Amino acid sequence: MRLFFCLLALLGSMLATAAPTPGQFSQVTGSWGSNPTNTGFYIYVPKNLASKPGIIVAIHYCTGTAQAYYQSTPYAQLAEQYGFIVIYPSSPYSGTCWDVSSQAALTHNGGGDSNSIANMVTWTTSQYNADTSKVFVTGSSSGAMMTNVMAATYPELFNAAVVYSGVAAGCFYSASGQADAWNSTCAQGNVDATPQAWASIVKNMYPGYSGSRPRMQIYHGSIDTTLYPENYNETCKEWAGVFGYTYTAPQQVETNTPQSQYTTTIWGSNLHGIFATGVGHTVPVNGARDMQWFGFA
Ligand SMILES: *[C@@H]1O[C@H](CO)[C@@H](O)[C@H](O)[C@H]1NC(C)=O
Ligand SMILES: *[C@@H]1O[C@H](CO)[C@@H](O)[C@H](O)[C@H]1NC(C)=O
Repeated sequence: MRLFFCLLALLGSMLATAAPTPGQFSQVTGSWGSNPTNTGFYIYVPKNLASKPGIIVAIHYCTGTAQAYYQSTPYAQLAEQYGFIVIYPSSPYSGTCWDVSSQAALTHNGGGDSNSIANMVTWTTSQYNADTSKVFVTGSSSGAMMTNVMAATYPELFNAAVVYSGVAAGCFYSASGQADAWNSTCAQGNVDATPQAWASIVKNMYPGYSGSRPRMQIYHGSIDTTLYPENYNETCKEWAGVFGYTYTAPQQVETNTPQSQYTTTIWGSNLHGIFATGVGHTVPVNGARDMQWFGFA
């Protein structure tokens, strides 16, 4: 009897969720899962959908929207080429930054925006029989901050991440517990922690987790006056600490890579940093390089 009602409830929730139209930027409405912060759920399912597709979560910047990020990034076109699905979450706050400051957001299943976004991934994975080893996250600015937070709070969901001009996960922490708070100390590059301290901040976001963690690629511009370039160093320190790399002794430094004025630092296969000299806020999305980092190309 109980099973029957469970099945009925499941059927009801499936019916209540309108199927997105392939080849069109669509909103997913209805009961796709728990959405504690009422985050908007938009999706691009390609016409050329792979049979076991990958998923890229692409997270917009402050003042941006899911639609603006869909239009200004190459992921939907790349989805048609490679057959993956793109999830575009949309911030529920006025000003459309992401909550990367509250304890809820900075905790696995804590009930913040990160929790809502994770539930979008879970729904999409089951709905489209996605390949759980090909789930990725990326974003710009506030979306890049959230990318670091997603990697820290839901490491089990993601294989790799690309961060375009964000801050380390936990750097925007609000001492008063405010959601969607701006943290000027962090933004202006005045938070300085050791790799070990950052690593314990990340590990405390999902206590007890000991599984694999997403490979991280970190971009930042040298003349960023919104999120000062020190945030590049702190983010690289954070993930170096998590992966057990010696921050001060990277494996390799390649100048003018992947383009003139960009320097790529490789700590190991799980952490690449790309510092863009002369670039402000934000470093432009490099779709072709992302496809390589995610393993599609
Ligand atoms: C800003 O974040 C840092 C940690 O990165 C924290 O120590 C500080 O208290 C935060 N500032 C505010 C106003 O909450
Ligand atoms: C931060 O990283 C950049 C790029 O690798 C480097 O030039 C700079 O010296 C670093 N800053 C500090 C304070 O370590």
